[in-house]
Amino acid sequence: MAIYHLPRGTQDFLFERTRRLEYIESVLRDLAESYGYAEIRTPIFEHTEVFLRSVGESSDIVNKEMYTFTSRGERSLTLRPEGTAGVIRAFVEQKVYAQQDYPYKAFYVGPVFRYERPQAGRYRQLHQFGIESIGTRTPFIDAEIILMACHMLNELGVHHYRVKINSIGDELSLNNYRKALQEYFAPMISTLCEDCHRRHEQNALRILDCKIDGDKEIVKNAPKIADFLSKESQQYFDQTLQVLNDYQVPYEVDDRLVRGLDYYTDVVFEIEAEDHEGNSFGAICGGGRYDRLVKEFDGPELPAAGFAFGIERLLLLLEKDEAFNSIEREIETYVMPLESTVFQYAFDVMMHLRLQGIQSDMDYGMRSIKAQFKTVDRKRAQFAILIGTAEMEQQQVTVKSNATKEQKTIQVDELVPYLAEQFAACEEETEHEHTCDCGHGDHDCCHGEGDCHHHQH
Ligand code: HAM
Repeated sequence: MAIYHLPRGTQDFLFERTRRLEYIESVLRDLAESYGYAEIRTPIFEHTEVFLRSVGESSDIVNKEMYTFTSRGERSLTLRPEGTAGVIRAFVEQKVYAQQDYPYKAFYVGPVFRYERPQAGRYRQLHQFGIESIGTRTPFIDAEIILMACHMLNELGVHHYRVKINSIGDELSLNNYRKALQEYFAPMISTLCEDCHRRHEQNALRILDCKIDGDKEIVKNAPKIADFLSKESQQYFDQTLQVLNDYQVPYEVDDRLVRGLDYYTDVVFEIEAEDHEGNSFGAICGGGRYDRLVKEFDGPELPAAGFAFGIERLLLLLEKDEAFNSIEREIETYVMPLESTVFQYAFDVMMHLRLQGIQSDMDYGMRSIKAQFKTVDRKRAQFAILIGTAEMEQQQVTVKSNATKEQKTIQVDELVPYLAEQFAACEEETEHEHTCDCGHGDHDCCHGEGDCHHHQH
C-alpha cells in the first residue's frame, strides 16, 4: 500500500484521461473563439477580499469552502473558488474597459478549489471552463451565452441535458424578496439546519439553495421571486426566453433557482445532464447575469454575464457514454530491435523517423518479440518496424502493418517515403469508407455509417 495519498477530493489524471480533458478543453476553447472570446489567465490565488466582495459573505463558498491562508507577508490569500472574481478584478485593474469594445469577451480554463464534502462528481480541486461577456446588457447576450453553452454540449456529443433558468430580478426586486423570505421563514427557523439559521440572518435567499433543507415542503412553499420582479426585470426575462424559444433551447423555468453566489442579478441558469441511460450528472454548467460586480471592484458601471462548466463532470458524463473511442491515442510507428547488437541501429532509425516528422517510439529493454508486439497493440501503433541482424547488415528494415499484418522489407532510405505512401493510402481508404457511394458524394448523408438515407428512397 502506498504511504502517500492524494488529499481528499483531488485526483490524478493519468495519461488517457489527461488526453480526454485536453480534448474537452480544446472543443470548448475552439467554440469560444468562434464566438469572439479570447483567453485570459489570472492567478490561481487572489487577496481574500476579492472573493468576499464578489462571491459574497453570505455564500457557502465564503463561509465554509475557501482555502484561505496567510502569506509570509501577513496578507490573507485564497485559492480561487471560481473564476469570475479574478477576471473582473483583472478587467478593472488592467483598465481593459478603456478600450470600449463592448462586450469584452473572455474565456478561461483552470483549477478552482472548494472545501466541499467530496462525493461522486464533487471535488475539492476541480477544473472550470468559463466565459464572461462584460459591458453589454441585452437579452440577446443572456440568450447567446446559453446558446453557446448548448452549442458546446452538442459539439461534445452531450445530448441529454436541460437548461434550468430563472430571473432573480434587479437589486430592488431582490431586496424585497429577501425581506419577504426572512419574514416567511422566521416562525419556523428552528426546523431548519444550523447553516440556514446563519443564512436567515445574512441572506434568506440562500435557504432556497440549501443542500439539506432545499427539498423540504416549507422551502418549496416559500414566496416566489416571480411575484417580486420589477416590470423591467420581467420584460427582460421574457425577452431572453423568447430568443431561447426561437432557437429551440430545451429550457425549463425553475422559480427556485437562485444560484449560490451573491453577485447575480436578473437571469440565472444551470444546465443539468444525464447519460444515455438516464442517470443524472447534476449541474454541469452554471451562470447568469451580474450587473453590479464591475462597479463593486471600483470599475465603471458595466453590466456582465457569464457561465462556467465543471470539466470533471463533463469528463465523467462523456466516459459513461463512451464518447472518447475516436480520440484514443495512436502512434504511427514502433521500432522493435530483435537483438541487442542492433540496438544502436534501431535507435538511429527511430530518431530518423522522428526528425522527419513521423511519430515513433521503441523498445529499450530488449524484451521478447511477443512482449514487443503486445506493446505495439497497447500503444495502438500503426506500423511495427522490425530490425534484426540481417536488416542491419543490409541497411534495411521490415515494416509490418498492424491493421493488415502484411509486412515488407525495404531499404532504410525508402522508409520515410514508403510510410508516407501507406499513410496516404490509409487516409484515402478511411475517406472512401465514410463516403457513401450513392452518388451524393459526401459522408454527411450516411454519417460514415453506410446506412445512407438516400439509398432508402
Ligand atoms: P458554479 O455554479 O459555482 O458557478 O460552478 C460552475 C460549475 O462548476 C458547476 O455547474 C459544476 O459543474 C462545477 N462545480 C462546482 N463545484 C464543483 C465541485 N465541487 N466539484 C465538481 N464540479 C463542481 C461559478 O463558479 C460561476 N463563477 C459561474 C459564472 C461565470 N457565473 C458567471 N460567470
